Amino acid sequence: MQTKKTIAIIGATGNMGSALARSLSKGNYRLLLKGSQQDMLDALVQEIKANNDSADVEAATCPAEASWEADIIILAVPFAAEKEIAGRIKEVANQKIVISIANPFNESYDGLVTKPGTSAAGELQQLLPNSKIVKAFNTTFAADFLTPVIAGKQVDAFIAGNDDEAVATVSELVNAVGFNPVVAGDLSVSSTLESMQLLLIRLNIKYQYNWLAGWKILHH
Ligand SMILES: NC(=O)c1ccc[n+]([C@@H]2O[C@H](COP(=O)([O-])OP(=O)(O)OC[C@H]3O[C@@H](n4cnc5c(N)ncnc54)[C@H](OP(=O)(O)O)[C@@H]3O)[C@@H](O)[C@H]2O)c1
Repeated sequence: MQTKKTIAIIGATGNMGSALARSLSKGNYRLLLKGSQQDMLDALVQEIKANNDSADVEAATCPAEASWEADIIILAVPFAAEKEIAGRIKEVANQKIVISIANPFNESYDGLVTKPGTSAAGELQQLLPNSKIVKAFNTTFAADFLTPVIAGKQVDAFIAGNDDEAVATVSELVNAVGFNPVVAGDLSVSSTLESMQLLLIRLNIKYQYNWLAGWKILHH
């Protein structure tokens, strides 16, 4: 059996953070959850334990403490907060995998606040030069975690990163929560992945997919 990895989820009470926590708690992982609203965080931990006796999950007191103990850090927070948290975890995230799920949308959800060719993940890598930044889970909606198979097709979840071992580890994690991992390339591909989710959101609104939609590459 593989050694159990510890995953810190910062922003665990949000839509994505809680979806990730619920899904990952079913895998062979120890979870440290951090959210600023303690009552919501405690309720989430209790809910996960009530649904699964063997879930290894606990609330953390601060992002730095959670990240210090973790092998993998997931920043399930808005793009602006990602930058702020990077400053707080820089030392303890040294050489660790940090997953950027952020999509840097503008307020009207019709554009990105990042410059063309740049990405939220690329900016995070600059802020955390000694961490292994991996882009993942940004092209899936929070609601998809409950239903990662839509219309009979397993939703693809794209992954980008510069460190092959880190990308392989995140692929296992994506697989563990029920999506089909597709390694899209190095971290520079993140700008495309972030634009893909902008398109999916626009299509979701236009065609009323009800936030239950995902990408699927059809192939032989
Ligand atoms: N929702 C989706 O379907 C989806 C899909 C793909 C990617 N994403 C990306 O996932 C990220 C989270 O989105 P979401 O929809 O889950 O947002 P959300 O429901 O608003 O949750 C955001 C979380 O971040 C925390 N947070 C906000 N500012 C913070 C700060 N300065 N320091 C620490 N924690 C902070 C919030 O905690 P408090 O409320 O307790 O402050 C909350 O737990 C975003 O970057 C988004 O682009 C979302």
